[in-house]
Formats: sequence, structure tokens, C-alpha cells
Amino acid sequence: MTIDHPSFGRIDDDRIIIFDTTLRDGEQSPGFSMNIDEKLRMADLLASLGVDVIEAGFPVASQGDFDSVYEIAKAIRGPVICGLARTGGRDDIARAGEAIRPAERRRIHNFISTSPLHMKYKLRMEPETVLDLITRGNTEARNYTDDVEWSAEDGSRTEPDFLCRCVEAAIRAGATTINIPDTVGYATPDDIEALFAMLRERVPGAETVIFSAHNHNDLGLAVANTLAAVRGGARQIECTINGIGERAGNAALEEIAMAIRTRPDAMPYRHNIVTEHLLRTSRMLATITGFDVQPNKAIVGRNAFAHESGIHQDGVLKNAATYEIMTPESVGWTKSSLVLGKHSGRAAFRDKLRALGYGELGDNQINDAFARFKDLADRKKVVYDEDLVALVDDEVRDHATLRFVALDVTAGSRRPAEAVLELDVRGEPVTATAQGAGPVDAAFNAVRAVFPHQASLMLYSVGAITEGSDAQARTTVRLQEDGKMVDGQGADSDTVVSAVRAYVHALNKLITKRQRAEPEALTA
Ligand code: KIV
Ligand code: ZN
Repeated sequence: MTIDHPSFGRIDDDRIIIFDTTLRDGEQSPGFSMNIDEKLRMADLLASLGVDVIEAGFPVASQGDFDSVYEIAKAIRGPVICGLARTGGRDDIARAGEAIRPAERRRIHNFISTSPLHMKYKLRMEPETVLDLITRGNTEARNYTDDVEWSAEDGSRTEPDFLCRCVEAAIRAGATTINIPDTVGYATPDDIEALFAMLRERVPGAETVIFSAHNHNDLGLAVANTLAAVRGGARQIECTINGIGERAGNAALEEIAMAIRTRPDAMPYRHNIVTEHLLRTSRMLATITGFDVQPNKAIVGRNAFAHESGIHQDGVLKNAATYEIMTPESVGWTKSSLVLGKHSGRAAFRDKLRALGYGELGDNQINDAFARFKDLADRKKVVYDEDLVALVDDEVRDHATLRFVALDVTAGSRRPAEAVLELDVRGEPVTATAQGAGPVDAAFNAVRAVFPHQASLMLYSVGAITEGSDAQARTTVRLQEDGKMVDGQGADSDTVVSAVRAYVHALNKLITKRQRAEPEALTA
């Protein structure tokens, strides 16, 4: 069976549409918010990864969200660009329509709750009102684009007869994709397969639309539920890089893409994901947000292809297939991630950055990054791709107001720690000296002396980027001020410098946020 779709044309029955919601549902997880530049970089990587749809944000939620969706719609070519809207929200659909306008192919995704619990307590609406809004919302969305998705929030806990009526109303009003989320991650794979099969069987017009799965991971079943939805007839999968998302997250894109690629016997479907780009996309997200995946995370975790036991190592050396069901290269791990040496020139450096997904850097950013690379290569025996990524990410971060210049620290068990810090504050060098309980405390006090502020430090965490005692540290600092929370990241082979870079990054974000004076964003 094939379907004629407004954005994709004729879609064969074995084709799976990958809908990435890292920049919307993913960004809703605490601490994962991204600024426009970071979202643009992620969107660019998602496009080269081959996702079919990028859900770029929730335009009515805040001016920042609107701007991100608009800029992504303007800059990114390839995937359909989608904006989220509430069905029945006051300006939601108009704002979403406006934000996606510059895109080559655009989608409005509107949603409303349909479960008894949500209708009664959250919406305080009668089912008939919800039905009416579904008709009105999807009709309105079609004024902006032919590609309209409708979601039944808490769909998996919705009473089946009512869900059928809702889906039928959405299709009649012009929705071309019907998404049935397991919003609270409650369903089992059997439930989900049966739910999609039931809808396809019972709803008039079901054969003209694409059904979509959106599963949360509260019971660790998001990926299994998503693959079960495909068995039940869903042909769009909503997922996120590294499985980030509300609470326990969404289904992980990299796991679904590799499950389908690795087991064509059990899952005879096709998707357009360039799986060799999975690792770099995952890494970029971790760098931008400051949250690494756990080492044993499938596909992209540090240990996903590591063999510790002697018996396994011996087997892999004889024949990798003994313990590897997919090759590390097929998801982007390279045999040697050794980067350039300290004698490498600027051209080789630029080429390497391009290969790592940083083709768009300006000359100033390249020059600054190159200077830091030379400095790092002098101090560190081996510079890996991961080191380079961390260093370049540091350079392209928000330096609108403050920029790190230099830090000297004295510390140890005999005397109080003291830090002498120089920052560039709006183009002017400012230096301060401060003491503290330890070197990081002294350095943070010096930041406060250079640039006085009221923000409270909520989180400070450090991890090593690679192995060895000369490894660069990657630091996350979370600051809070007037109910606004931001995370900053920093990297350096000196742990205290890394911490200060992270603190300065967080402050820059806070200042940018303050200047925009955004109201607290809505989430879906
Ligand atoms: O989980 C959910 O129900 C959602 C909808 C907005 C699609 O994220
Ligand atoms: Zn969700």
C-alpha cells in the first residue's frame, strides 16, 4: 500500500519517516535548553543525519522559541521543518504558521489531550468540546500548510471509541499525519501494536494518512513500543538524539535506526538515516547540553563497542562478528580518533573541523580555535577528535558579554586557595583576585569580583573527555537568577580553567536571556 503525502510524495509501505523532536520534546528536559545558535547547529547536523522532519520548537511558547523555529526554517534545507501548536490554543496555530513560513517544506503539529483524565482535570473540557476543537484546529492549520500533523495527547490512555472519533475528525479536517503518543510511558509493546492496528482498521480514511508513534521512556519501553507501533502500522517514528525528553525521555533515534538496519529479517523497513553520522550527532548534543550519555548507552555510549573480558577480546580479534552485531564504523566510531599533531597547519585543521561537522565556522572562530589547539597540543600527548570538538565548541559558545582571558591559581594543603582572573568584559580587560575554600571556589569568587551578579550556583559537575591524567575536563555549571536557569559548559586540560569557562558561558547565557526579557516558556 502506498500513500500520497503532501511533503514526501508517494510513500511505499516499507518506508519509515523519522521525525526528530530533540529540539522540542528533548529540549523540554530540565537543563537541556539551547540557545538559537546551538539549535541551528543541531538542526544542521540533523539534516545531514538524514532525518525527514525536524520539530524545531513550540513557537507560541516564547519569543525565543519562535525565533529558533523561524531561523531554522530559514537556514535548514532538506528536512520538513515543523512547529508545535496546541489545538485550541489562542494564537498557537497562527504563530506556528508564521514561524515555519520560510521553510522549503513545512508542517504544523497540533495536539490536544483526549484521555478522560486529561480532559477532566487538565483541560476541564467535555469530550464534545475537544472534538470540536480538533475539527477547528486542523482546518485552521491547513490554511498555512498542506502538511498537518495532529496528536492525541495521552492517546494510549484514551477510551478507544472516543479516540476513533477524534482521529476521524482530524482526518476529515485535513490532518495528514496522525500521532498517538504514549505521553506518560505507560503502555506495553502489545498495547501499542494493538492500538495502531485498531485505529487503522476502524477509522474511516485511515488508509489516506500516515500514523505516527511518540513514546516516552518511563518504563524503559520507548524503543520497544515504537517498533511495536511500526508492526501495528505506524510509519512515522518520533524520537530524539540520545533519547532526551520529558522525564525519562523519548525513544532514542540512534537505537531505532540501528535496530532497523541491523535486523532487516525481523524489521523489513527502510529509513534515510546516515547511520555513520549517529555518533557525531550524539556527541554534539552532549557537548551543547553538557550532559554525556551513560557509558553503556546502546550505540553511542563509550562502552558500546568496548570489550573488556579476555574471552570477548580474543573472540573479536579472531572474528569481530563473535561479539559485535554491528560494526563500530557503521555508527560513526572510527578506528583511530587520533587528530592532528602539534605541527599540523591551519588548512589541515580546517579540513578536520569540516569532517567533524564544523564547516560553517567563521575565520575569527577558526583562528581562535587554532590557537587553542596549538596550545593544547603542546600540553597534551595525544589530541583526539573529542578534544577538538570540546575545544571548538568552547570557541563557538555565547561570548556576547564576557570572554575568558587568563587565570592563575595557587592552591594546596598549606595555604588558602587564591585565584587571579582576567576576563574581557564588553571589550575591556578586567582583573580581580579572590580567595576561596579551594581553587574552584577561589576562581568562582574571582568571577563574581570581576563581574558582580546575583545568580546562584545550582550545579557544578566535571568529567574527563578522554582517558589519562592529561585529559581535558568538561565542566557544566548551572546558574539560577529570578527563576531563570541556564547551563554553561567549558573544556580545558586545566580543570579550574574549564570550570571558569563554564561559569562564564552560563553568565553570558543568563545575560542574553535577561536582555531578551523572555516570559517563562510554555512546555507541551
Ligand atoms: O508526549 C506527548 O504527548 C507530546 C505531544 C505534544 C506530542 O509530546
Ligand atoms: Zn512527548
